[in-house]
Amino acid sequence: MAVTAALTPLMVTSLLLAMAGRGPSPGERPGRDPPARMRNPVTYLGPVPITACDHYGRSTTTGVVHSECRLREETALRKLTYFIACSIDGFIGDPEGDASYMYPFVDEELLGHLTSEYPETIPTHGRRQLGIDDLPNKRFDTIVQGRASYDLALKEGITSPYAHLREYVASRTLGESPDPNVEIVADDLAGRVRALKAEDSAYDIYLCGGAQIAGALADEIDELVIKTYPVVQRSGMPMFASAFSPTEFTLESLRGFGNGVVVRTYGRKH
Ligand SMILES: NC(=O)c1ccc[n+]([C@@H]2O[C@H](COP(=O)([O-])OP(=O)(O)OC[C@H]3O[C@@H](n4cnc5c(N)ncnc54)[C@H](OP(=O)(O)O)[C@@H]3O)[C@@H](O)[C@H]2O)c1
Repeated sequence: MAVTAALTPLMVTSLLLAMAGRGPSPGERPGRDPPARMRNPVTYLGPVPITACDHYGRSTTTGVVHSECRLREETALRKLTYFIACSIDGFIGDPEGDASYMYPFVDEELLGHLTSEYPETIPTHGRRQLGIDDLPNKRFDTIVQGRASYDLALKEGITSPYAHLREYVASRTLGESPDPNVEIVADDLAGRVRALKAEDSAYDIYLCGGAQIAGALADEIDELVIKTYPVVQRSGMPMFASAFSPTEFTLESLRGFGNGVVVRTYGRKH
C-alpha cells in the first residue's frame, strides 16, 4: 500500500529512518546514487498542453488563479478521486495486495510533495510521527476505502486511521463500526458515494482503494491521481478489479521526481 493509502507505524519508522539517511535494509532497493540526469525533476515535453487548473482554480503551469475555473469548481459536484500508488505496469500491490516493497520510493522529495499537496492522504498516526498533525486538509475531507484496506489499520489496533477525515468503509461483513468516526457502508455503495458527492463542500472525496472497491466504484470516479513507481511487477493486484470497460481520461498534470516516480492527474472525460 502506498504511504498515503495506509501508512502503518512500521512504514513511518522506515520512512523516518530513510529520511535520516539510514542505508537500505534487506529487501529494500540498493541505495546507489542515481545518475545526474535523474536527480532533477523531469520536465514534461509531451504533446499535451498542461494548462489545466487544479481544484482551487489555479493554473497547474503558472499558478495563477482563473476566476472562471474557480467558479466552475464551486458550482460542480465534488469529485471522487482515486489516489493510488502503482507499478509501471499498473499493479497496486503483489497478488495479495501487499505493496510494502514500494515504500522506499517515498523519499524526501516525494514525501515533501505529498505533505504539501495532499497532507490529508497521510494517515493520522503517520502525520503525528512526521510532526504534521496540524496541517489543514487541502483537497479532501472524506475518505472511502474497502474493508480489506481498512483491515491493515485494524490489524495495527487503529480503528480510525484517517481521523482528520470523515471515514467510510465498504463492507457487507463488518457489521457495527469499531469507531465513531467510521461509517460502514454495506448497501448501495455507489448511491452513498453519489450522495457524498452532492454534499455542499469545498473538498473532494479520497477513494483510497483497494482494487475491489475501485472496481465497484469505477463509474463514479471523476479523477485519478496515480503515483507510478519505476518498477515492473509482471503480475499482482490490479488498479481495478472489474470487467473490461475502456473509459477515457484526460491528462491534467504530470510531475516527475528525481527517483523516477511520476505523479499524474487525470480528469474523467464526460
Ligand atoms: N497501492 C496503493 O496505493 C493501495 C491503496 C489502497 C489499497 N491497496 C492494497 O489493496 C489491498 C486491498 O484491496 P482489495 O481489492 O483486496 O480489497 P478492498 O477493495 O480494500 O476491500 C474489499 C472489500 O470491500 C468490501 N466491498 C467491496 N465492494 C463492496 C460493495 N459494493 N459494497 C459493500 N462492500 C464492498 C468487501 O468487504 P466485506 O468482505 O467485508 O464485505 C470487500 O471484501 C490491500 O492489500 C492494500 O495494500 C494499495
